[in-house]
Amino acid sequence: MTILVVHGPNLNLLGEREPGVYGTLTLDELNAKIREHGRAKGCEIRTYQSNHEGRLLDALQRARRWASGIVINPGAYGHTSYALRDCIAGINTPTVEVHLSDVEAREPFRKISTIADVCIAKISGRGPQSYLDAIDLLLRKG
Ligand code: DQA
Repeated sequence: MTILVVHGPNLNLLGEREPGVYGTLTLDELNAKIREHGRAKGCEIRTYQSNHEGRLLDALQRARRWASGIVINPGAYGHTSYALRDCIAGINTPTVEVHLSDVEAREPFRKISTIADVCIAKISGRGPQSYLDAIDLLLRKG
């Protein structure tokens, strides 16, 4: 199984960005942890980050050719982007929405997800574990 893990806008700043909310791991460290988890479960993980909505769509569309599942932290685009929602709806690849922070317990705009209804699950508030749990979920669904 090969899984694509996608990180949206501002997640390249992990480690320095609001560490009290998002933790102190850098994106490289987070990706290493995710890849190690995948390796332990016998699954290949590819990672991608962009601050640009269109580039995220391009990566998701390409992944429909090879990925058996997708884990996406959409960042703030998950609260605003119908293009992202339509893309996930259109690629026919099981996708899990993740967030490091507990979006339900923060500002009201973060409770809105444009992509939740086209994802198989939404996992938030568990820090890096949100990603690992999403991978396990995709592996269980096979
Ligand atoms: C986030 C939560 C979003 O509301 C925010 O815009 C982010 C990060 C998270 O991982 O907790 O950029 O997706």
